[in-house]
Amino acid sequence: MLMLNLSLWAVFEYSEAKGLEELFYPTYDLSGFSWDSVNRTLNHTALTAEFSGVPATDPGGSFSNGSVGFRVTAYEAGGRDRPLPSLLHTANSSKVEFVLAGVAPRGNGSRFALEVATVEEPGVVQELRSARSIDDEYTPTIFEMLSLVAQSQNDSSTRSFLQWKATAYGSRSPRREDNIQCRSGGLQAANWTLPASSIVRAYFGEGVGSSYTVSAINISFGGEDGEVYQEKRYLSWSALLGFGQPPRDTFSPLVISIMAVALGTPMAMLLVGGCVLLFAQRKRYSEYEPIN
Ligand SMILES: *[C@@H]1O[C@H](CO)[C@@H](O)[C@H](O)[C@H]1NC(C)=O
Ligand SMILES: *[C@@H]1O[C@H](CO)[C@@H](O)[C@H](O)[C@H]1NC(C)=O
Ligand SMILES: *[C@@H]1O[C@H](CO)[C@@H](O)[C@H](O)[C@H]1NC(C)=O
Ligand SMILES: *[C@@H]1O[C@H](CO)[C@@H](O)[C@H](O)[C@H]1NC(C)=O
Ligand SMILES: *[C@@H]1O[C@H](CO)[C@@H](O)[C@H](O)[C@H]1NC(C)=O
Ligand SMILES: *[C@@H]1O[C@H](CO)[C@@H](O)[C@H](O)[C@H]1NC(C)=O
Ligand SMILES: *[C@@H]1O[C@H](CO)[C@@H](O)[C@H](O)[C@H]1NC(C)=O
Ligand SMILES: *[C@@H]1O[C@H](CO)[C@@H](O)[C@H](O)[C@H]1NC(C)=O
Repeated sequence: MLMLNLSLWAVFEYSEAKGLEELFYPTYDLSGFSWDSVNRTLNHTALTAEFSGVPATDPGGSFSNGSVGFRVTAYEAGGRDRPLPSLLHTANSSKVEFVLAGVAPRGNGSRFALEVATVEEPGVVQELRSARSIDDEYTPTIFEMLSLVAQSQNDSSTRSFLQWKATAYGSRSPRREDNIQCRSGGLQAANWTLPASSIVRAYFGEGVGSSYTVSAINISFGGEDGEVYQEKRYLSWSALLGFGQPPRDTFSPLVISIMAVALGTPMAMLLVGGCVLLFAQRKRYSEYEPIN
């Protein structure tokens, strides 16, 4: 729960008219939202909680039937999530799901982007890593995993991470066809002055803004297929937030056996060939023996 406080978020909405510049609507600054009491949504068995909010003022009425939410899931042990994107997790990590539900788009073909900012103490550097895999068994059609990793400059040990697959989903019970393209911008050093009442300031003290570094990254949803949200009015993006090394996907047994067939068979054939040869030689040799 505390970890969520270390990140600041803003939601951008823009339209991309053909051949024209992107048109940005006023930003939804989540620090200016009013949030529901978490009490009602706390589930002690599933270890989940949901923060759901609407802007303090909503002149356009976009939120009359919608909200922005963060669903947090804590884990007691390592494992793999059942719902897509089926992230691999450890006991030291939690899932944060960003949910945009029922919010009316302000334009025709609106897209959304989430700006995530992190605050780090001195001596800790952030790095954005992208890993591609040939294996999409756990997250069909998605081959890219991104991680924002905070490393100590002293001993280059990993302090914390935010890890996500390059996809969002347009459904409460996501299937592969509900896939919404998700793109990540570059990591930017943000020179922000944090609001005086900010919870970040409460956590880090007054040093924020001078000695502490704030970095931010934009994650945008919906590429060419920007109409998915327009149609479904639902968007969910999941990321894993944790301490220590981010978990790494290993190849699934299916892919390992496919690779074994594709790459390993000539080796197996050589081995079999070698055995047969050896056996044949032994046999011939032994056939000679009685003669001696
Ligand atoms: C939340 O739950 C705690 C303990 O369960 C209780 O003391 C507190 O009054 C509740 N707050 C609200 C706003 O319901
Ligand atoms: C808590 O989560 C479990 C498992 O998902 C579910 O069966 C249960 O109904 C939930 N409890 C509440 C109060 O929502
Ligand atoms: C409000 O949302 C519900 C469920 O998401 C939907 O069934 C209903 O039509 C929406 N109402 C309006 C006025 O958009
Ligand atoms: C979880 O964190 C503790 C303390 O930081 C560490 O000792 C442990 O190895 C971590 N476990 C995993 C699975 O990363
Ligand atoms: C939205 O765009 C589509 C295709 O460009 C167009 O047919 C439709 O009339 C537009 N709707 C509005 C409300 O502008
Ligand atoms: C780096 O090492 C110095 C001296 O050992 C220590 O004071 C400082 O806290 C360390 N910084 C981090 C980020 O671990
Ligand atoms: C950050 O902002 C302060 C004051 O606005 C300025 O003095 C400083 O040079 C800026 N730093 C960077 C890295 O842009
Ligand atoms: C995210 O996008 C918005 C709108 O284009 C821009 O103002 C902001 O600087 C971007 N932030 C980062 C970290 O790139």
